[in-house]
Amino acid sequence: MELNILTLIYLIGAVTFILGLKMLAHPARARRGNLLAAFGMCIAILGTIFLYKDEQGNGLHNYGWIFGGILIGGIIGTLAAKKVKMTAMPEMVSMFNGMGGACAALISIVEFNRLVSHPVITSLPPSGFLSVVVSQGELLIILLGLMIGSVSFSGSMIAWGKLNGTIKDFSFKGQHILNLIILAGVFVLAVYLFVNADDLFRFDGTSAVFTLKGHLIFYGVFVLALLYGVFFVMPIGGADMPVVISLLNSFTGVAAACGGFLYDNKVMLTGGILVGAAGTLLTILMCKAMNRSLANVLIGSFGGGNKSGVTGQKQHGTYKEITLSDAAVLMAYANRVMIVPGYGLAVAQAQHACHDLEKLLVERGVDVKYAIHPVAGRMPGHMNVLLAEADVSYEKLLEMEQANEDFPTTDVALVLGANDVVNPAAKTDPSSPIYGMPILEVELAKHVIVNKRSMKPGYAGIENDLFFQKKTSMLFGDAKKVLQDLIAEIKNL
Ligand code: TAP
Repeated sequence: MELNILTLIYLIGAVTFILGLKMLAHPARARRGNLLAAFGMCIAILGTIFLYKDEQGNGLHNYGWIFGGILIGGIIGTLAAKKVKMTAMPEMVSMFNGMGGACAALISIVEFNRLVSHPVITSLPPSGFLSVVVSQGELLIILLGLMIGSVSFSGSMIAWGKLNGTIKDFSFKGQHILNLIILAGVFVLAVYLFVNADDLFRFDGTSAVFTLKGHLIFYGVFVLALLYGVFFVMPIGGADMPVVISLLNSFTGVAAACGGFLYDNKVMLTGGILVGAAGTLLTILMCKAMNRSLANVLIGSFGGGNKSGVTGQKQHGTYKEITLSDAAVLMAYANRVMIVPGYGLAVAQAQHACHDLEKLLVERGVDVKYAIHPVAGRMPGHMNVLLAEADVSYEKLLEMEQANEDFPTTDVALVLGANDVVNPAAKTDPSSPIYGMPILEVELAKHVIVNKRSMKPGYAGIENDLFFQKKTSMLFGDAKKVLQDLIAEIKNL
């Protein structure tokens, strides 16, 4: 009876995951979707703790450890999520993802030790030779969970360090070959262990004991997989980080699904597969948004060590500035203004001021919309989340394709802390590292006003020709301050 209730709880949990994911697709329902899936996860965890019984009818008993762990993890997670700045969100995602990978790897370690300490003994000395059978199915899942979870853990930790600036991009000649050698080492050891597990036992006088050699091979797989995660992420830099994080996220999902197989736990399996599938889809979509293949992201170190023309500021022309009052007049008397938010808007926390400007312009009869680039900011959906925080209506946000159709009929494109996503080099300069990435074509508008603090480059570290074009005027300053001043100017008109 209890088992049936648990199965029902798992089914409800799995359904909430799927519905929650679906609801995440729309900003208006995302928060509820998140809560729904979290509720499903809660009942699945509590159901497992209190209702799970193994084949002998034993339930879980070490409640002190379990609830101690939940309490500590829960407190750390809640504080981290409450404290995190919007701009540091990718780091946190990376860190949490790494923890998921570590859990999967630890499950594999624990289960491997259980498996080899209770082998099925088919014959023992002195009546016969030592003959032991290790479950191949379980061993396979354990090894897969170990390899994928370890790569995901160490890779995510490197990604976390890179995003918060503590670890610098690092690559050397022949690194990809070294990576392949390490990866081959992981597979060779894992396959050896899988094929020869039954022979890696010795008789200790009373029973069968797994040999030191066997343990060394298993932990060799673990260490090499950790090393591979480090070397795999190390050379990938800059703007490609979100793609890698999303890929590692899908790894964690698959590693968790391995745990689901191992424990025959349906909800863990469903959750893991959903994370794996969602991470893979997000990875593909992000590559598409940058017009790059996954191989190119993983092997070509775009935005990484190769930051050509970055800080040298070889400005190839002159730019002109616009005064606050001229910018105010231009926008106040325009028919249509398109706001193009970027990473700088998030840094300045200028989303509320931005919404105030929008409302003021709309009151004056200006048609105001926002052009959202899929990789503006530092995480998927960054601009949507930022503007939602300031209660900007979703209907005002245009996707890139729609915005590009509207730019030719736009009077003023106001670029707020965006740089790479409006860089025409992506269309015109085949030697540019962002060549091929679809961009917001702001230069099609009648006037372009760019707000940033200096002429420094954006994330990809490259100069932006847009700033030197005839139509473009620079409005220097912190986005929040500039927007507040613009509002004051427009009110005085
Ligand atoms: P960026 O190209 O990074 O440019 C942001 C600009 O904001 C900078 O040039 C900076 O110039 C300006 N800025 C910074 N602080 C500011 C402030 N307080 N006030 C006003 N301006 C400020 O941003 P983007 O156009 O949004 O493009 C995003 C880039 O990040 C792309 O290359 C993308 O591939 C990459 N990326 C994306 C993601 C995702 S998934 N969204 C994740 C990681 C990386 P100043 O210093 O001169 O002010």
